Amino acid sequence: MASDLDTNVLNKAKNGVYPKACVENEVPDPYLRIGFGVGTNGLEEWMRVRNSIRKTVSFRQINLARLGDTKYFDSEVKFDLIVCRNVFIYFAPPTIQQIVNSFRDVSTKDTYLITGHTESIQKITNSWSLVRPSVYKIK
Ligand SMILES: C[S@@+](CC[C@H](N)C(=O)[O-])C[C@H]1O[C@@H](n2cnc3c(N)ncnc32)[C@H](O)[C@@H]1O
Repeated sequence: MASDLDTNVLNKAKNGVYPKACVENEVPDPYLRIGFGVGTNGLEEWMRVRNSIRKTVSFRQINLARLGDTKYFDSEVKFDLIVCRNVFIYFAPPTIQQIVNSFRDVSTKDTYLITGHTESIQKITNSWSLVRPSVYKIK
């Protein structure tokens, strides 16, 4: 599941089309071949995430600031991995605290939470413990 607040961002992600030079620069070779196809008919400078991968992802409009008071997920939904990077910059510490506390509701004791490199949550919450830089597990 992939989420964002912004409809344009979600549409871009659903479409999965990126400049070839950027993809080749960012994505390691084995994943590149498995994950992306090169455009045809004048679109050779573009790559698209393969349909087999895109169809496994559900894209959802979620406002992280409302996670605490909006029921986005059924209670049985649990994620093995939550990647929440480069978004906390928009929020004040109390909201970040609410967000990471809400992540607990969709986590098990084995779930990993990954934040951006500069987005430490250690001083904001004591409900997650740091296991590696930017990687957390429930306390
Ligand atoms: C700097 S980008 C980071 C995108 C991506 N996570 C990454 O690391 O490349 C921040 C994203 O947060 C989204 N965003 C901003 N406020 C949000 C909110 N309240 N809830 C969910 N997403 C939000 C923006 O639309 C934008 O796509």
